[in-house]
Amino acid sequence: MATQTRVSHRHVLDLDIFSQNEIEEMLDTADSMKEILSREIKQVPTLRGRTVVNMFYEDSTRTRISFELAARALSANVVNFTARGSSVEKGESLIDTVRTLQALGADIIVIRHKQSGAPYLVAQHFAGAVLNAGDGWHAHPTQALLDLFTIREQLGHIEGCKVVIVGDILHSRVARSNIWGLTKMRARVTLCAPPTLIGPTRFWKANWPELDIIYDLDAALEGADVVMALRLQKERQQSGLLPSLREYNRYFALTAERLAELGDDVLVMHPGPMNEGVEIMPEVAVAPQSVIETQVTNGVAMRMALLYRLAS
Ligand code: NCD
Repeated sequence: MATQTRVSHRHVLDLDIFSQNEIEEMLDTADSMKEILSREIKQVPTLRGRTVVNMFYEDSTRTRISFELAARALSANVVNFTARGSSVEKGESLIDTVRTLQALGADIIVIRHKQSGAPYLVAQHFAGAVLNAGDGWHAHPTQALLDLFTIREQLGHIEGCKVVIVGDILHSRVARSNIWGLTKMRARVTLCAPPTLIGPTRFWKANWPELDIIYDLDAALEGADVVMALRLQKERQQSGLLPSLREYNRYFALTAERLAELGDDVLVMHPGPMNEGVEIMPEVAVAPQSVIETQVTNGVAMRMALLYRLAS
């Protein structure tokens, strides 16, 4: 149950500082935002006169577009900043860019950056609010919140659910933020991947002693309520972490056979973009158990909820 506590963080950089009640409250706010998006006129005046700047230093389709749609649905002014074509190409630093955006009247900065920690640096130099839209290997809190929202919406609850995260966990900011969120919401989380794509068990256990780490996918999937497949982050990998994509697919992909074992009630999730035929087979991505498109749709409502909270 949501309580009367209000999310009071000035920035959203990761979910580590969120309590269970605060996460619950964000999910409730996203519920109201989803209702707005179901209306014929999908716009409310809540952020009229506020300026949201989307700073994307790394490629993105769904996160960038859903932030833009979310800001527009709340009637904010939206500016899309990409490093290409800006003064960054003339050597301007991140801090100078932020100061410039502040002088131009930005109220909220949404930032995606390939460098872990970049949103934290921005937060130190910006008088408004900062939303982390993905930083390096580190965190992707808005994705984790929309995943939590989707699980609660589909299954009615998160507490006690068994969630298996399978794939390139080592390089995944989605995995890390989801682990914060899911464990705070008292889900049971299992990580599954080849050992080279999980990293030291010691690290995981030191932060989250309750995590299960299982290297055999069929064993990991037993009794799962939710399976979250992650993309192989080829752009962040060194060589030598995998013998071959074919072998990876055989041992770690979500296939139709594995889905049949899981039954009709399991939820199949993937943050996208998918490498179909690598971590997930095309028929699984569109199976009735798949909520991958619902995740994308819910991303708009969750980002509206976050912009609303940070602006108020
Ligand atoms: C993820 C990301 O960018 O971290 N995608 C997303 O935001 N929907 C996952 C990924 O790139 O694999």
